[in-house]
This record gives sequence, C-alpha cells and structure tokens, in this order.
Amino acid sequence: MHSAAAPVNSDLDPFSPEFRADPFEPYTRLREAAAPIVWLNKYSIWAVSRYQAVRAVLDDWRRFSNAGGGGLANYFLEKPWRRPSLILEVDPPEHQRTRRVLMQALSAHRLQQVRVTFEAQADALIDEAIERGALDAIPDLVQRFPLTVFPDAVGMRREDRSPMLAYGAMVFGGFGPVTPWYQDLMKQADAVSAWIMERCQRQALSADGIGAAIYAHADAGDIEEGEATLLVRSLLSAGVDTTIDSIGLCLRCLAEHPEQWAVLRDNPGMARRAFEEATRFDSSSQSLFRTTLEDVDFQGVQLKKHQKVLVLIGAAGRDPAKWPQPDRFDIQRRVTASQIGYGAGVHSCVAQMMARLEGEVFFAALARKVQDIELVGPAVLRLQPGLRGLSSLPIRFTRKTI
Ligand code: HEM
Repeated sequence: MHSAAAPVNSDLDPFSPEFRADPFEPYTRLREAAAPIVWLNKYSIWAVSRYQAVRAVLDDWRRFSNAGGGGLANYFLEKPWRRPSLILEVDPPEHQRTRRVLMQALSAHRLQQVRVTFEAQADALIDEAIERGALDAIPDLVQRFPLTVFPDAVGMRREDRSPMLAYGAMVFGGFGPVTPWYQDLMKQADAVSAWIMERCQRQALSADGIGAAIYAHADAGDIEEGEATLLVRSLLSAGVDTTIDSIGLCLRCLAEHPEQWAVLRDNPGMARRAFEEATRFDSSSQSLFRTTLEDVDFQGVQLKKHQKVLVLIGAAGRDPAKWPQPDRFDIQRRVTASQIGYGAGVHSCVAQMMARLEGEVFFAALARKVQDIELVGPAVLRLQPGLRGLSSLPIRFTRKTI
C-alpha cells in the first residue's frame, strides 16, 4: 500500500523540437520530480521516467494496456489512422498468439543463417565508405545497411526501398501529436501504404525468407492469411528505421568518444557490447505508450481509466538510481541484463536479437577496417516527432593499415 501522493504537473512537451534536441536534461527534471509519475499539462497524459517506475508500468500489462494504441492517440476514444498492429497494439492472451509466430520467424537458427550475408554486406559498405573519403554517413552508409540486409532477410525483392523510410516516418511520427509537419507527411499515406501492403503479400515474398516463415503459420492454421500479411507489415514498419537510427547514434557516440572508439578498434569482438551500451545511452526508441484499463493507484498517485501513460525508456536508461555514472558512454559497461532500450515485459522488442546482430556485425566490420573516425561537420538530429535519429553525420574514415 502507498499513501496518497499529490499529483505533480509539468509543462514539458516531449514532442517539441527543444525537448527532442536535448531530452536528457528534461529527463533529469522528470526523474527528480516529487512523484513517480508526472502529469503533462500540454497533452493531458501521464509520464514515467525513473527506471523502477518504467519497469513497474511495463511489467503490469493487466492495468497498462497496449490496446489503447502505441502512440498519443487513444484508441479507446478515437479511430486509428491504420488498422492497429496485431502484435504491438493487442494485450494477452491474444498477443501471445501473434507474438509466438514472430518469435519463431526470427529464431536463433534464422539469425545464424543470415549472419554471413549481413557480414558480407557490412564489409562491402564500409570498404566503399573508406574509399569515398568524406561522406554523409547517414544516407551514404548507415541507411544502406539495414535497408539492404533486413528486407533481403524478409524475402522482399531488390528495388528502390525508400518508401520503407517514408512508411517508418509515418508509423513512428503517428505516435506523436498531429502537427502541420505530420499532416504534410501523411499526404503520401495512401500511396506509401499501398506500396507497403503490396510487398507484404505472400506472392511478393521469396520462398525462403522471414516473410514466408510467417505465412507458413497461416498454412498451419495458427493465424489467418490476412493476419500473416499484417504481421509482415509489423516487421516492415518496425524493422528498418529503428536499426538505422540506433546504428547512426552509436556511430556518433563512437566518433565523439575517441577513447571508447580506441577500445573497440583494438577489440572488434566488443562490437556487441558497444551497441548495447549505445542502446542504453542514446538510441532510436526513447518512449512508448500504455493506456490504463481501469482506475489505478500507481505508487500512491491516482490515475483514471483510459488515461495515456508516456513511458520514457530513454530516461530510465540514464537513471542514476540504476546505472552508475549514467551519462558516461562506456562500452565496457555490462548492460544487457538490465537493458531497457528494447522495452520490457510481454511487448519487449520481439526482434531485439536481430537488432543486436545488425549492430554487432556493423560495428565489428568498422572496428576491423577503420583506424580513425573524424567528424567533418555537425551531426544533425531530426527534431520532428518519431524515432530519435540523425539526418546527417558528416564523417571521414581512415583505413587501418595493420
Ligand atoms: C535497435 C533497434 C530496435 C529498437 C531500439 C527497438 C525497440 C523496441 C521497443 C522499445 C519495443 C517495445 C514497444 C512497446 O513495449 O510498446 C519494440 C517492440 C517491437 N519491435 Fe523493436 N526495436 C528495434 C528493432 C526492431 C526490428 C529490427 C524489428 C523487426 C524485425 C522490430 C520489431 C518490433 C515489434 C514487432 C515489436 C512489438 C513486439 C510486441 O508488441 O510484442 N524491432 N521494439
């Protein structure tokens, strides 16, 4: 039992460009507020930011639901812009059915199979980047890696895949407020959604990819054919921008912390740990949403039924009550067991082993081939709602000679 606590309000706007330019200082203010959950006046939603409170919400799916929608829009009160995700936006027990299908399609065996082609692609892209001299690492290197290896693994045909980036921006931008920027973006929604839905069909996918593995569950009667299509859509929604942005931010961290880069360069086997630390320190997914299913007493604060809760996993990753010197980027840190960057509980990232594989393969190749990383211009963050990520990272790599 907790004694009743006075609600704490804040005028912070987590979707504003100012907040997005530097979320870490406002995260500190939110964590240090007098209550474990804070009311955000601008959107009439709650926000949790301390590690322990974030875990408490994510572990409590019976009261904090995903069926209210993955973003600010409240599906209990308004109509969603697209059919809700069959995995992210449903609660147990229904959620287990679809989650099991994706878990199997993304099995350890599958990851082992794709590793060699991921490595070959990373090697080729990094060799090309070194030869080019100065380049913008986001479009010219980072985007190209997941945009090649992941849709290939799903079994999509090779073509201009840039509509996947537009779709990702819509999906993740759609988790925020409706702004003029978002309305403008959504002018392409019909065309881009049609492009994506066409690529999710059984006949559009190769017979040996992750997409076909999902359709095999429809053949086995575990799910309907139309559900298989929507599960492939979930992968195409969540599978490219997340890794692009996390790899881009990790690359910036390494460029800005030469002493950490030196450790990785001398020990390419530490690539997985470096990416893991970056996923805690500064990564693509900073926040999630839950919606209360009933009136809730949350650690002494009273929440009403069908209220939205913003879960700031990026703030939990920097909580000094959990992590010693949380604002230090340290690739030797042991993060995995307490990692919060992939969420937690029943909805924690179903593809986190795939994401880790991509990060590991990319940074191991970089560490084997590159001596120095030089920033040759300012890194530019995207400030619109959506995933956290860079639009530009001007860089020059020097090749290792031994
Ligand atoms: C570094 C890259 C990634 C990060 C940081 C990340 C982060 C997350 C987070 C935080 C969640 C939890 C959402 C919630 O609880 O509301 C999640 C769920 C999910 N992610 Fe990822 N993700 C990444 C890569 C991927 C990839 C590559 C895929 C697809 C292959 C993917 C597919 C999904 C799906 C389908 C869910 C929903 C799982 C469920 O509801 O049970 N993610 N991800």
